[in-house]
Amino acid sequence: MNNLKSILLVGIGLAAGFVSCDSGSMRRTPGHIYAPDMTYSRAYDAYTSNPNFEDGQTSRLPVEGAVARGHQLPDHLMEGDTNAYKTFTTALRFNEEEVKEGGRLFNIYCGICHGAAMDGNGPLYNDGNGKFAAKPANFKDGKYVHMQSGQMYAAIKFGKNMMGSYAGQLDIKQRWMVVAYIKKMQSQNGGDPFAFGAAGTVADTAHAKGKVMADASTATVPAESKDSKKKATHKREEY
Ligand code: HEC
Repeated sequence: MNNLKSILLVGIGLAAGFVSCDSGSMRRTPGHIYAPDMTYSRAYDAYTSNPNFEDGQTSRLPVEGAVARGHQLPDHLMEGDTNAYKTFTTALRFNEEEVKEGGRLFNIYCGICHGAAMDGNGPLYNDGNGKFAAKPANFKDGKYVHMQSGQMYAAIKFGKNMMGSYAGQLDIKQRWMVVAYIKKMQSQNGGDPFAFGAAGTVADTAHAKGKVMADASTATVPAESKDSKKKATHKREEY
C-alpha cells in the first residue's frame, strides 16, 4: 500500500515537472505549432497600427448613425428650430421611479442654479450674490410654468444664453426625465402637466395635434398602463 502511494506520488511529481518544463520552453522556442493562427491572433489589436485603413489606426469610430444599445434614437432637433421646440415631445413613458430619478438628476445638474425649490435661486445665483451672475429661469414664474416640455428639452440640449448645454451630461431619456420632473413640480403649482407623445409615433406629431396623453400630476404613470395590467407590470418593455 505504502509502495503504491509513493509510486503514485513520484509519478505525479514527474508529470508536473514535465508539464512545467514543457510550458516554460514553449514560451521561448515554440518549435512546431499546430494551427498557428490559434496561437498567434490574426486580428489587429486595438491601438496598434493597421495598414488597411488610410489613417493607419485599428480602433475605429462607430458607423455614423449607430445608436448605442439601450439608448434612444436621435431626436433631430436643431438649434434655432424655435417653432419646432414648442411642439416637440417624446414617445417615452415614465413611471414614478423614473420621474424621481429625473428629480435626482435635476438636483445634481440644474438645482445649483434653478434651485431645488425651482425658484430660480439656487446657491450659484443666491439672489445675485452667488458666483453665477445671470439670473436663472424661475420655474415658478408664469412664463415658465406654462413653458412647453419641448422648449425645456431644447434648453437642456442646446443651452440658453448664459446657460450651457447639458447634452453631454444627460442622454435623451435622462433629459426627458428631468423635464417630466420639472413639469410634475410645476403642475402642483398651477402649471401644465408633462405632455407625452403617442407611443411609437414620430415624437412631435401627437403634441402638435394637441393630444395630451398622460398627466404628470397623477403620479405620471402612463395613461394606457392604467387600464392594462400587463403593461403596468412590464413598464420597462415599452422602450
Ligand atoms: C449655471 C447655471 C445654470 C444651470 C446649472 C442650469 N441652468 Fe437653466 N438657465 C440658466 C439661466 C441663466 C437661464 C436664463 C437664460 C435666459 O433666458 O437668458 C436658464 C434658463 C433655463 C430654461 C428656460 C429656457 C428658455 O427657453 O427660456 C430652462 C427650461 C432651463 N434653464 C432648464 C435647465 C435644466 C433642466 C437644467 C439642468 C439640466 C439647467 N437649466 C441648468 C442657468 C442655469
